[in-house]
Amino acid sequence: METNERIVILDFGSQYTQVIARRVREFHVFSEILPHTTAAADLAARRPNGIILSGGPASVYAPNAPQVDPRVFALGIPVLGICYGMQLIAKNLGGKVHQSTHREYGRGTLTVKSAGKLFARLPRRLEIWNSHGDKLIRAPKGFKAVAVTDSAPFAAIEDADRQLYGIQFHPEVAHTPRGREILGNFVTGICRCTGAWTMASFIDRAVADIRAQVGKERVILGLSGGVDSSVAAALIHQAVGRQLTCIYVDNGLMRANETASVKRIFANGLGLKLVVADAGAGFLRKLRGVTEPERKRKIIGAEFIRVFERAKKSVGTAQFLGQGTLYPDIIESVSIDGNPAALIKSHHNVGGLPKNMKFKLVEPLKQLFKDEVRAVGEALGLPQEMVWRQPFPGPGLAVRCLGEITAEKLNILRAADAIIIEEMKRSGWYYKVWQSFAVLLPVRSVGVMGDERTYDYTIALRCVDSQDAMTADWTRLPHDLLAKISNRVINEVRGVNRMALDISSKPPATIEWE
Ligand code: XMP
Repeated sequence: METNERIVILDFGSQYTQVIARRVREFHVFSEILPHTTAAADLAARRPNGIILSGGPASVYAPNAPQVDPRVFALGIPVLGICYGMQLIAKNLGGKVHQSTHREYGRGTLTVKSAGKLFARLPRRLEIWNSHGDKLIRAPKGFKAVAVTDSAPFAAIEDADRQLYGIQFHPEVAHTPRGREILGNFVTGICRCTGAWTMASFIDRAVADIRAQVGKERVILGLSGGVDSSVAAALIHQAVGRQLTCIYVDNGLMRANETASVKRIFANGLGLKLVVADAGAGFLRKLRGVTEPERKRKIIGAEFIRVFERAKKSVGTAQFLGQGTLYPDIIESVSIDGNPAALIKSHHNVGGLPKNMKFKLVEPLKQLFKDEVRAVGEALGLPQEMVWRQPFPGPGLAVRCLGEITAEKLNILRAADAIIIEEMKRSGWYYKVWQSFAVLLPVRSVGVMGDERTYDYTIALRCVDSQDAMTADWTRLPHDLLAKISNRVINEVRGVNRMALDISSKPPATIEWE
């Protein structure tokens, strides 16, 4: 079923803005995040069913505080202000906000005085999560307080006639256990969304859009074997079949069986046109003698582009370039006092294509979050091992093979890594952690095997839990699993006689070692 329902979220710099967008989509309603500077007329042109004003770190009276176009409140579209968003409603419509010097953090209890539509079907007392400095001390004309806390007489307000709502606390976080239902009441009860945006409807529409965009032209796509480019490839292939050619660069820095599994899944399984550029020897030659991590990355990045360009020529002329760009890559982050909500790491683009290639882009995933991309992958029939695989860096094993990269060291690293992956999967841990992999250290130490002295490498096991890779903590794996992995690696991989466990968190360490 086709749907044009959508909720727009205006971003005032809250760390939770993307979480709000995710939560709305759980009701099968499309949501999009726009900068707070968006004019009311532009908002209205998108015909949203409702508008949510996010929280934010500022005080509404601060000199550079992000503002909202006040005409938003007169569009006749329901508005929900969360935290800072509620204070903006108050400031613009004649309420009073008390500036506070300290922030109120943490759990609280909300008492609902009048359920109305926002608190429909919810108990009178609710556990909530607060994180605010300023608070409302007088509601604007036409509004009434519908919920209070011990310290806030206006913890939730509404003007049901104008369909304007404000809540002081954060319904989008897990610490507000019934928050999901509050958002649901807004999205389905107040904004009257029916919830027809499903992965199946998304795929139908994406396929139609890709066909309309591409026509009879050709598309090429750099397939890395990661989740994003794989799902983009499968989706574009569903739309235009053999008008799509995927180029897979085997840089010789892949994990064990990686290239074979890409061929099996895409060329044999999906029947997709796949060009494999077997370029490992060239990458190794360029990396000979190089030990400095940033130089490794630069060399790999440049060589990737060269190999891709060459492979592209063999495909013939294509007008379009397919890419697995995701929503978090394109959301404009709001800069409040020079502190953008999301910091972008430039080095993470290694292994990608330059921006100035002369192509029109086909980016069918650019409105989706990662878990939605996985759901699309599953719906398209990609295997679980592909859809749920752990992230893998563009420069591949190069940033896990410390010091100079040689074919011998790569083989050792690959064999150890394959054992780690196998044991992680067998024990059920692989899909619970963010990443788990082997790192080869460029030092040798003495050991004894049978009656012989050995002088071999050390493998470090890096296994981390994370939400978004910006921060991470080392996973407390069970000792018997660690013992099993270490036993197997040392016994089965020639050239390794010792294993270490990396017990550093990020920050101050990073996930990858280089
Ligand atoms: P760090 O090591 O900075 O890594 O903590 C954070 C996450 O990013 C991945 N990573 C990369 N991904 N190209 C990528 O596509 C890169 O150059 C790159 N370097 C690191 C890393 O695996 C982790 O998930």
